[in-house]
Amino acid sequence: MAVAPKIISIDDDINSLKSLEELLHFRKCKVHSYISTLDALNAFDEVKADAAIVDYFMPNMSGVELMKKLHEKSPDLPVIILTGSQDVKIAVEALKGGAFHYLLKPIQADELFSTIDKIIDQLNLKEENRRLKNELAGKYGFENIIGGSPALSDLFKMLSKAVKTRSTILITGESGTGKELVAKAVHYNSSRKDGPFIKVNCAAIPETMLEAELFGIEKNVATGVDQRPGKFELSDGGSIFLDEIGDMSTTTQAKLLRVLQEREVERIGAAAPKQVDMRVIAATNMNLAKAVEEKNFRQDLLYRLNVFHLHIPPLSQRREDIELLAEHFIDIYSRENGLPEKSIDDKAIDYLVKQPWPGNIRELENVIERAVAVSEGDKILIEDVRGSTYRFSVPAAGDADTASKGSMESAVADFERKLLLRALEENDWKQNKTAEKLGISERSIWYKIKKLGIEIKKE
Ligand SMILES: Nc1ncnc2c1ncn2[C@@H]1O[C@H](COP(=O)(O)OP(=O)(O)OP(=O)(O)O)[C@@H](O)[C@H]1O
Ligand SMILES: [Mg+2]
Repeated sequence: MAVAPKIISIDDDINSLKSLEELLHFRKCKVHSYISTLDALNAFDEVKADAAIVDYFMPNMSGVELMKKLHEKSPDLPVIILTGSQDVKIAVEALKGGAFHYLLKPIQADELFSTIDKIIDQLNLKEENRRLKNELAGKYGFENIIGGSPALSDLFKMLSKAVKTRSTILITGESGTGKELVAKAVHYNSSRKDGPFIKVNCAAIPETMLEAELFGIEKNVATGVDQRPGKFELSDGGSIFLDEIGDMSTTTQAKLLRVLQEREVERIGAAAPKQVDMRVIAATNMNLAKAVEEKNFRQDLLYRLNVFHLHIPPLSQRREDIELLAEHFIDIYSRENGLPEKSIDDKAIDYLVKQPWPGNIRELENVIERAVAVSEGDKILIEDVRGSTYRFSVPAAGDADTASKGSMESAVADFERKLLLRALEENDWKQNKTAEKLGISERSIWYKIKKLGIEIKKE
């Protein structure tokens, strides 16, 4: 956008205005010039300038005074102050008052252009940030949390209440159920969406470092330690996502409790605490009530975190969501790979619905990502989804339909053969690797290959 910025230029000297206008046209800027400060102020809202160039010496008010008035209307507006005087005081006053830059008259074209280029860079960056923010808000909109099961509609109801507050939120659910997705949706749909979303994985950071990570460190001249803000401070005005909170030590838990109660944090080695305004979103796949019983989690902290409790049930308890989710991921991965959108065969859906899904939605997402890539036609078939689920699944009841009709023994053998073939294929026909993946010994894989009459392909 800001390749050709719109500039409002104000100077009581008509000749200066004209020559500035000419220079700026060179640089392809759109210029609105005013001799009168009052006219400029009146027109400002309508002009919607990206930047202002203001002369310092003017009859009604100084350029710095005018800049302040412009900043009241548009606090981030870059303002360049022009002055014919070499007086350093003016430059200092301008910069202290919030000017982007000041330039001496008569204006040198190269100086003006390099300043304008800096403004353009800044505007582009701002625009880019805004675009990314919008994109994120779109990506983490509630509509991207897929599911129509009663469990999910309860979740949505809670979510819509939770986003209107600053209250602490606790999200629980097994691995891969979407805790992080929900945390981001809370942030990007709340009034804090323009503030930061800071994630801290409490399990991934060694206990000795977690405290410094969260609270920050004050400069210590004696030890030469440099100051570093903590993640709480960095999330000021936004949200902090404490992932895997069940893994936090009880000492750090006590400190977190204080933050939640007092809304202030103290850097390690600091003399005084600092106020912070953030929303805490915590998540865990642990049963915190049980952790409290086992004295691994503080009960008072659990109460504090539990203001809004969002529990996401495992996928196996909301199988009605599987079809919707599968279609959602087909859509995503077809688009990502530049493929026309594929559809999915009913048999493949039936198969997916019957799987145990211990890895929940993340596992389903992986299966679909692979299926989109391997399926040949425009329809994803049962073979395409079955290939990658064998490691997790026992033969689902539905498989009996596709297995050979006949005795139980031959059905089992048939299934074993398919399972083994697929596993061998995925492990480059290496028996030791395949055995390890399937969790059986090399001896028994050798035996099964012989018994089932599988021919080993040599690469
Ligand atoms: N309801 C949903 N709709 C669409 N996508 C989902 C949904 N739930 C989860 N996902 C997707 O599944 C993947 C895993 O989700 P996420 O990382 O949020 O899970 P998690 O609960 O934080 O897992 P873990 O405990 O392992 O960290 C992500 O790619 C996420 O976008
Ligand atoms: Mg997670």
